[in-house]
Amino acid sequence: MGITRAGVFRCRCIQPARLFLRLNSSVSGASKRIKVDGVEYNTDPTFTNVTKSIISHTNKGLHLNDQHPVGILRDLIERKLNSVDNVFMPYNNFKPVVTTWENFDSLGFPANHPGRSKSDTYYINQDHLLRTHTSAHEVQCFQDLQTSKHKGFLISADVYRRDEIDRTHYPVFHQMEGARLWEHGDLDSLKRDLEVMEKALKENQTHTKLLCVSDAPAIDPEENPKQSYMTAPEVELTVAHLKRSLELTVSEVFNRKIESLREMKVANVPTELKYRWVKAYFPWTAPSYEIEVWWQGEWLEICGCGVIKQDVLNKAGFKLDSTMGWAFGLGLDRIAMILFEIPDIRLLWTADERFHRQFKRQTITAFKPYSKHPGSIRDVAFWLPEGTIGQEEEIHENDIMEIVRDTAGSLVESVKLIDSFVDPKTNKKSLCYRINYQSMERNITNLEVNDLQKEVVGRLIDKYHVTIR
Ligand code: PHE
Repeated sequence: MGITRAGVFRCRCIQPARLFLRLNSSVSGASKRIKVDGVEYNTDPTFTNVTKSIISHTNKGLHLNDQHPVGILRDLIERKLNSVDNVFMPYNNFKPVVTTWENFDSLGFPANHPGRSKSDTYYINQDHLLRTHTSAHEVQCFQDLQTSKHKGFLISADVYRRDEIDRTHYPVFHQMEGARLWEHGDLDSLKRDLEVMEKALKENQTHTKLLCVSDAPAIDPEENPKQSYMTAPEVELTVAHLKRSLELTVSEVFNRKIESLREMKVANVPTELKYRWVKAYFPWTAPSYEIEVWWQGEWLEICGCGVIKQDVLNKAGFKLDSTMGWAFGLGLDRIAMILFEIPDIRLLWTADERFHRQFKRQTITAFKPYSKHPGSIRDVAFWLPEGTIGQEEEIHENDIMEIVRDTAGSLVESVKLIDSFVDPKTNKKSLCYRINYQSMERNITNLEVNDLQKEVVGRLIDKYHVTIR
């Protein structure tokens, strides 16, 4: 749909955009300005929905720490891709506040694209938001390439999306964006670079053979067409280079994992790695694809990618028809969780030394759980205010998630809708959510959980005028 959940593999369920009359919260209202990474921004009563707890994540830089699973993985992929022909300029320090132009318009997102909705995205004000993907920096980096010796770039950064709460979803995660350019029509360079990449890929399959179980044709005129300024051979070669580059990335990452499983003498370590290419759609690439890897019984969405649209290159200042190339966006956290066997995504954010001292740079080791603290479950059931069902004002699930997150922070393990019905007599809608409070670091008391639950309920009533059942 134009923006995948490349961060956490599960396909993002895109809800229709809804505008809320009653405003989401915490930093609007009293304080008229918000500070993020030392810069002050005006808030805007109809747009601001970023919360203090979200802003507190903007300076953590997990991807910069090469002794943290996310940083170790970032480092591993950067090294591998640059080991082939050393063309990528790394950018790892972009700040997360970007303009709506950078995040959406520059990439050709239509005005009504669901990714722009306030239920999915954290807005600072009408013009600024916390980037929802690293593609927000593409145009800027393409501009840089015009005066650089590099032919591509790798951007790693934290990205932000409002979402559900469970063990694999967190509103902040990390992506790596990659892109590579050629002069339009320079088939010789493209062929040469492809040969080098194919050789690197072959040499990398030391422990595990990659097995492609289904491929997506480079061009599908109906459903995944090429751009008219490129010839079919140009597209085919560019796509082949893109696919081999991502296969090399997959091979590197999973090879390392399989190697470490063998060293640990784990039984039934796979000897081959199945993957598949599927066609996709992104507003700024054509044709577009996704690569998925079969791992422990399921298809993991690794990354979205495609041939960069001419329009994006033009926006970056390239002369019309002068340039062609590919781009990809890969989610780091979910892969890190698999490689390091991390059972709960919140662990990536813990300050607990028992977590951090387990990891060493450039090394993949399985996380050893230090203890499991018991959770404590609370349900909240309520009637929505009359007349809101199916209307713009109807409370969005992500708003409920946000209230729980803003109240309980990392003390919440999951929030699930367990019941929903409409009373046929009164036409009123009832929802019941089950919240599991649990800490990764310590035991939490019943008293503490009662207080948190009371606050969640209070905020639901104040903000969304629900009636508790
Ligand atoms: N930004 C896209 C996402 O988050 C991934 C992507 C990057 C797709 C670059 C194509 C090109 O899903």
